[in-house]
Amino acid sequence: MTFYRQVGSIPPKRHTQHRRPDGGLYAEELVGEEGFSSDSSLLYHRGIPSSIVDARTWELPDQTLTANAPLVPRHLRLHDLEFKEADPVLGRRLVLGNADVRISYAVSTAPSPYYRNATGDECVYIERGSATVETVFGALAVGRGDYVIIPRATTHRWVPAGGEPLRTYAIEASSHIAPPSRYLSRYGQFLEHSPYCERDLRGPVEPLLAEGTDVEIYVKHRGGGTIHVVPEHPFDVVGWDGCLYPYAFNIADFEPITGRVHQPPPVHQVFAGQNFVICNFVPRKVDYHPLAVPVPYYHSNVDSDEVMFYVDGDYEARKGSGIGLGSISLHPGGHPHGPQPGAAEGSLGVEFFDETAVMVDTFRPLDLGEAGLASDDGRYAWSWSGRGPAA
Ligand SMILES: [Fe+2]
Repeated sequence: MTFYRQVGSIPPKRHTQHRRPDGGLYAEELVGEEGFSSDSSLLYHRGIPSSIVDARTWELPDQTLTANAPLVPRHLRLHDLEFKEADPVLGRRLVLGNADVRISYAVSTAPSPYYRNATGDECVYIERGSATVETVFGALAVGRGDYVIIPRATTHRWVPAGGEPLRTYAIEASSHIAPPSRYLSRYGQFLEHSPYCERDLRGPVEPLLAEGTDVEIYVKHRGGGTIHVVPEHPFDVVGWDGCLYPYAFNIADFEPITGRVHQPPPVHQVFAGQNFVICNFVPRKVDYHPLAVPVPYYHSNVDSDEVMFYVDGDYEARKGSGIGLGSISLHPGGHPHGPQPGAAEGSLGVEFFDETAVMVDTFRPLDLGEAGLASDDGRYAWSWSGRGPAA
């Protein structure tokens, strides 16, 4: 869900003639969710959006998932991973996943191919670097700290800006990804208690038109990947309007909600998908009751696996665990977790946490992808007791 937006040239009334300079008709395409019963946009193409001249198999990167067994909390060090493919789509390495969501990581310097995820929406968090995301709706300039929400089946490509490599943390849903419904009025306006609002969301502002013939589009879909070859350039949209389009939101625009005593994780929520949520922890004043304990209590999120990705600052509750920037902690449902020994005492009297982390909580267990297995430090599970199994 996003609010109504209008870009480029559209006719005054929907489903009426919209003519090109040569007198021919533009092709109107409705892109809509939930079978014409939810958000949609109307796009006006120079060419025919359904045209293809070839289709062949795209062998996806390794999508193998391995159960988290024996069941333990894990520390995955994403900055230790190596990347052969240098682009933000083909170079993604799968870290964690289940039937609802897959999390992958890429470090890239080269543009991706044209790409479309037909499985679900993507939320790509930019840890470092900057890029242009070129889409059929127009371009988005994105950089460090941005969440880039790309609706299902949006044709787009990533073009890193150069300089520092682009580090992207891709959360690929099997569903849609949207602001939590409790932040919205029944008609979809952000409510006063929401930690962000319409002004914080950046959408395309003008059409992106390109010329080309026989262009390849890499399509990820249920059961694998396909490369479609389209006769004309897919960026042929002269205008569109509606409530369904890609947009960016920067984590620094999230206004944290704080309290006298510890606030539960839902106050940190930023997006929701089916069977998972995305939350973020941002620099903030902390609990100000005179006897408050600013770090979290131990908790058994019995219905969730919790994935925390540490992107900036210093994460108070994990001090002494080896976790640092670029780390993931995986706290599986079925096992309690909480501060490292000494962290609760150490936090007493602290007034500000300078920490930035992106959290995904899933309501079904997560399995480990090849990059999750490759980056596991193998020691984190014993960090609360201070000793592991005898060697
Ligand atoms: Fe937690």
